[in-house]
Amino acid sequence: MKYLIVAGARPNFMKVAPILGAFSKVEGPDVKLIHTGQHYDRAMSDSFFEDLGIPEPDIHLGAGSGSHAEQTARIMMGFEQVCLQEHPDWVVVVGDVNSTLACSVTAKKLGVRVAHVEAGLRSRDMSMPEEINRLCTDAISDLLFTTDEIANENLRTEGVCSDRIDFVGNTMIDTLLRHLERARSFPLPDGLEQGHYGVLTLHRPSNVDTPETLRPLMNVIQEIAESIPVVFPVHPRTRKNLETFGLLDSAAVGCGIRLVEPMGYLRFIGLVSHARFVLTDSGGIQEETTVMGVPCLTLRHNTERPITCSMGTNYLVGTDPAQIRATAQAVLAGEMRAGAVPPKWDGKASVRIVDRLVGLR
Ligand code: UD1
Repeated sequence: MKYLIVAGARPNFMKVAPILGAFSKVEGPDVKLIHTGQHYDRAMSDSFFEDLGIPEPDIHLGAGSGSHAEQTARIMMGFEQVCLQEHPDWVVVVGDVNSTLACSVTAKKLGVRVAHVEAGLRSRDMSMPEEINRLCTDAISDLLFTTDEIANENLRTEGVCSDRIDFVGNTMIDTLLRHLERARSFPLPDGLEQGHYGVLTLHRPSNVDTPETLRPLMNVIQEIAESIPVVFPVHPRTRKNLETFGLLDSAAVGCGIRLVEPMGYLRFIGLVSHARFVLTDSGGIQEETTVMGVPCLTLRHNTERPITCSMGTNYLVGTDPAQIRATAQAVLAGEMRAGAVPPKWDGKASVRIVDRLVGLR
């Protein structure tokens, strides 16, 4: 049997790494890694391959950036050729980025079976491109590997029959548990002390694409940073917008926000593991902080990962400065819950996935 594993953007790499690792322990399957090239900067892509020991992609599509339609179309055209040459039995896609959608649709139209890892997540927010990608990918995938019981329920509500749903756990957490000890031993950036700083990440278009949203967010975070330093690894999209809106200098100078380049996986996880709190609009970081027991203030009005709020350490604070300020003050006063790790987030999701794909269970 031949399997094509697809990765395209930063949050995909930690999800495919353990799946490739689990495949390498099984004799027989022919497995190829396809990098779509959605992310291409060293800091957004190559450094993750190095940190996670992912082998060089067998095929690189070099799709690059563009509008959603341009990017998705370029990935589809490249991936169609790959499928026609390789004749895979399965295409495995992960997460919810444009590469996930492009490759699942392309494979399915060629009659290739599709497995979606991290299926069933729903934010119910159709202004998020990722929600559209999730809905479309899940609707056509043959096998839906889920991370939690809420995702199973979402899929059942949409009429998916239960033999397509396989609750396996969380591959991103497989990677976290495998690398956490090493990541925690990485030195912190100069001048930071364990437990005495916050970490900020921001890249959602809804937060960073207009000055009306980005300015008040940066202002309230600057206020927080007057009490405790806040390290801010800046995504390329966000850096460009901070520059365009004239916010780069005020974000960087004269306050406790420390802008740094996007970090590799191990340094970033090490940084988060020792942080007092995290402010983010990322999806995956909500899950990683729950497992590390670090309070996470999510700068969004909804989440596709509600189990991190009901069981873990995640708080949906939205974008209202008063709410963000009040929650940050509560965290600094030590008033937050400890949280628990959701079922099957145990480091074995990828083995369950591969066992199912190769017919061992
Ligand atoms: C994408 C995903 C998002 C994920 C995020 C993680 C979609 C719809 N969005 O968003 O779900 O959370 O990745 O980072 O798939 N750029 C670079 N270098 C790169 C990549 C991008 O400079 O290596 C710049 C380009 O100017 C590009 C912009 O960042 O236009 C946005 O990149 P894009 O891949 O379109 O979306 P992300 O915002 O990264």
